[in-house]
Amino acid sequence: MKIACIGTGFVGVVTTAVFASHGHEVAGLDIDENKVASLSKGQVPFFEPGLNELLNKTLVSGNLTFTTSYQEAITDAEIILIMVGTPSAADGQADLKYVLATAESMAPYLKEDAIVVIKSTVPPGTNKKIEKILKQKAKVSFTTASVPEFLREGTAVEDTLHPSRVVIGSTNKKAADKLAQLHRPLSDRIIVMKPESAQMSKYAANTYLATRITFINQVADLCEKNGADIQEVIAGIGEDSRIGDHYWYPGFGYGGSCFPKDVSELAAYSRAVGESDNLMNKVHDLNQARTPYLMEKLGKKVGGWKNKKVAILGLSFKPNTDDTREAPSIAIINHLQQNGAEVTGFDPMAKWRGDSTNFSQKESVVEAVAEADVIIAVIEWPEIVSFDFSKTKLDKQQFFIDGRNQFEPSILINNNYTYLGIGRK
Ligand SMILES: NC(=O)c1ccc[n+]([C@@H]2O[C@H](COP(=O)([O-])OP(=O)(O)OC[C@H]3O[C@@H](n4cnc5c(N)ncnc54)[C@H](O)[C@@H]3O)[C@@H](O)[C@H]2O)c1
Repeated sequence: MKIACIGTGFVGVVTTAVFASHGHEVAGLDIDENKVASLSKGQVPFFEPGLNELLNKTLVSGNLTFTTSYQEAITDAEIILIMVGTPSAADGQADLKYVLATAESMAPYLKEDAIVVIKSTVPPGTNKKIEKILKQKAKVSFTTASVPEFLREGTAVEDTLHPSRVVIGSTNKKAADKLAQLHRPLSDRIIVMKPESAQMSKYAANTYLATRITFINQVADLCEKNGADIQEVIAGIGEDSRIGDHYWYPGFGYGGSCFPKDVSELAAYSRAVGESDNLMNKVHDLNQARTPYLMEKLGKKVGGWKNKKVAILGLSFKPNTDDTREAPSIAIINHLQQNGAEVTGFDPMAKWRGDSTNFSQKESVVEAVAEADVIIAVIEWPEIVSFDFSKTKLDKQQFFIDGRNQFEPSILINNNYTYLGIGRK
């Protein structure tokens, strides 16, 4: 099939490369000339395991091209996938300006019966908005659909090659069949529904996962009050198949480019439709308050942050990505800077892009912890979790804050660290 992918950011690059690797003729379009130039040379402007290799393999096959020209990308395209950013606006709702701009730009070049698919995360009702714009300028008949993206940074290539499910939002049978045909080699779990349901499915999935994180953080706080250990509690609830033992991360709260944005967008959407006091609004507020609350509490345990040398291990929002958008490290480092600490940081991939007052990024765990009074293990990168901290123990009291309960407390305690976990003594 001939496919145009609009927006070659994180989702766009992975999607173009995967569909081209399946033999489709794919044009990746972006308004960012630098991005198009570097992708055309096979250079991915961010870190994602396996993506560079896949992109270069498909570029050689000749199935994949990148352009800044709507005319070039759209004229022959049977399917157009919109994957531009949908940041939150000031009121928290999804800012659709980039999505709507793509409709303006593509309309004059649409081919007869083209299927225009929104993959960006957008609220229900967005298809009608782009249809209105397309109808004003398009010279042909077309249809719109919604195929929300569920990939996860860090495993994006694998998630796109083998998605857990493909949700197709379309009420047009011919378009839904064609989109199913496109996705069938990737997954046999294809679910067709209304566009509104598809869009709600995306928001509901991310909000549910974010809620699990917020929920277990609250249970962890209660454990600290009564001597229970949150990891034992997780073992105690996880065997129940309705609950499951996976995806429990007591810690500094969720971050990244999706959860905070999607929860806050669903919260704002709820307010706009008259449901201002619902769970979505609570989850967002609780997560915002999570890091300040923990840093305040931990600050008391370490004897105050002022003049403390603090090593932050893990700057990205999760392992296997260099993405620091809304990462817990940002709020942690800001809190430490405001409270007079001297901070070092280490991450295998991510770079600190914030204020560097009293902050220096180091090249290794060894360098980061070299003088630390307090070590905060924020993200479970393998390089951090497998590090032998007995080798770097200093001859002074050192606190070890296990920000995601990834370490065996007794090992650190036996090495004379003062261990502080989340929801455990
Ligand atoms: N990043 C993720 O893990 C992820 C996962 C699932 C869903 N999503 C959703 O997918 C969408 C895209 O996310 P992303 O992380 O890839 O965003 P991104 O910011 O990495 O990339 C967006 C790209 O769109 C381009 N763009 C903006 N306006 C354009 C226009 N008018 N024409 C052509 N290109 C244009 C930008 O230059 C940029 O390269 C968002 O709605 C996001 O919520 C993201």
